[in-house]
Amino acid sequence: MSHAEDPQGNRRDFLYYATGSAAVVATGAAVWPLVNQMNASSDVRALASIRVDVSSVEPGTQLTVLWQGKPVFIRSRTEEEIATARDTPVADLPDQMSRNDNLANPAADASDQNRALSEDGVWLVQMGVCTHLGCVPLGESGDFGGWYCPCHGSHYDTSGRIRKGPAPQNLHIPVAAFIDDTTIELG
Ligand code: FES
Repeated sequence: MSHAEDPQGNRRDFLYYATGSAAVVATGAAVWPLVNQMNASSDVRALASIRVDVSSVEPGTQLTVLWQGKPVFIRSRTEEEIATARDTPVADLPDQMSRNDNLANPAADASDQNRALSEDGVWLVQMGVCTHLGCVPLGESGDFGGWYCPCHGSHYDTSGRIRKGPAPQNLHIPVAAFIDDTTIELG
């Protein structure tokens, strides 16, 4: 039976996709008031750059926002998540590049220090887009306690680095910065 004739397979794919999208809509709602308040011309600027209030993001939780039409995961990591990420030798990683747009050196290695937004390692900001075929991975899932993409089984660690499965690259890190203690600007 081909994939197209397999209603169970289709339904499974659909459910995974819908689950990921629903999570984005629910958590992404937090930024819409900000965008909706803007007039047409600043609306265009909002596409390039948005500000996100992260004051309510507790350690061990994440906020998902939509930026330029794509989900971005903003996670406040626990000490254990940080330690696990930092104890992993770069040599063990399938993709040893940081994939971090904030670094001057694009070939910097994928150590957790080169991926975390804050020096203490608490904040990790990354695109919620699987580098295989673009599904939205699920948080706190998979064999490495980070993110899991159920579309084809890619496992990312607590630093968002690919560890197992078909995805070729670590989750990409967009341009992001704290502009005050509780606000992150994307773009
Ligand atoms: S899209 Fe994520 S594993 Fe294929």
